Amino acid sequence: MPQGTLLYAQSGGVTAVINATAAAVLQAARGRRVRVLGAHNGILGALREDLIDASALAPAEVKALFHTPGGVFGSCRLKLKSLDVDRAKYERLLEVFRAHDVRWFLYNGGNDSADTALKVSRLAEEFGYPLTCVGVPKTIDNDLALTDCCPGFGSAAKYTAVSVRECALDVAAMAETSTKVFIYEAMGRHAGWLAAAGGLAGSGRDAAPHLILFPERPFDEADFLARVQATVRRVGHCVVVASEGIRDGDGRFIDEVAAADAFGHVQLGGVGSHLAARVEHALGLKVHWAIPDYLQRSARHIASRTDLEQAQAVGRAAVDCALAGHNGVMPVIVRDSDAPYRWHIDIAPLERIANREKKLPKNFIRADGYGITAAARRYLSPLIAGEAAPPYAADGLPAYVTPSLRFVKRRLPRFDPAG
Ligand code: F6P
Repeated sequence: MPQGTLLYAQSGGVTAVINATAAAVLQAARGRRVRVLGAHNGILGALREDLIDASALAPAEVKALFHTPGGVFGSCRLKLKSLDVDRAKYERLLEVFRAHDVRWFLYNGGNDSADTALKVSRLAEEFGYPLTCVGVPKTIDNDLALTDCCPGFGSAAKYTAVSVRECALDVAAMAETSTKVFIYEAMGRHAGWLAAAGGLAGSGRDAAPHLILFPERPFDEADFLARVQATVRRVGHCVVVASEGIRDGDGRFIDEVAAADAFGHVQLGGVGSHLAARVEHALGLKVHWAIPDYLQRSARHIASRTDLEQAQAVGRAAVDCALAGHNGVMPVIVRDSDAPYRWHIDIAPLERIANREKKLPKNFIRADGYGITAAARRYLSPLIAGEAAPPYAADGLPAYVTPSLRFVKRRLPRFDPAG
């Protein structure tokens, strides 16, 4: 049995399949006879020494995590600043690691979390503490550099494409006497990947969605309203997919609902209702809108099988990387071919992933700025392929699991991360 403990933490917004990554980590570590601790609520738990004995989870509970959304150990939005500013916190992390003989740290998150994992690995080196830090990718925003796609995205993309297709049928049925415009708001604060996935709902000039609004293109209200009107005249109705992150020509978000969080991100959400009000007021058309918000992030019932497989693969690969001593890296997904879709896992350095955002490439957005191209379809289609429905219980609901978590005894004085 290798000496030492592996600490696994989840960070940032959870996904429908992040627990599949956790389960893969637990199974892989179990197979290598490595003890695993889970940090409660991400890095916060590591700072507070709120650590869960993840190896104590029953094999049946671990198995059920493969089909359970949410974040089993809890996640958080807490960005550690530079080593100079937040040095006390980084040093506290190392104290906690030392106290529990943590030799491998797996941080499952997005680009901000990659930055934290990288800084922890650098400080450990500086202190001569033997630690291997590995980032594990996940984000429904699909905006991590170097990986072809991010676990969590494929399932949120499938939810988006399916929902847009279903709502479009509803609107089409009612349009003559009722709703003429339907607006679907997709998450993805700075990058239009999920909005683009809405484009998979249909193809052809008159198929829904008729208009997609991307954060990569400045929003021009007059042009948008004119296109809505023209589509309603031509097709009878208009289905719009709007990214929550669309901005005006000056780069200001069209809709911010709250001040910045600890990552420095403002809370978005509500652009759908804003656009609906503008369409109603300016064009006098009846509008419905949907803000699926966390529904798209947690929709495990309609997960993509491809996404689920990739979420597990990065978890297994992260354990392999850690035990092989690959420090400051992240397992990434490499696409070998579109059709048939083939991929494999490679390793990339965290310093080339931390704090970078991958936007939708220009050749994925149609020349008029309101739709996706064939290249985007080739990229997106395999990511939503395959079904992976959870088992359902007799009450008609998915048989999700909420394991009871056993916290390990603290060995250090308390620490207040806010202090
Ligand atoms: O995890 C990514 C994301 O879902 C974004 O698309 C969205 O803007 C954000 O998280 C919402 O974050 P929070 O739950 O912290 O408000």
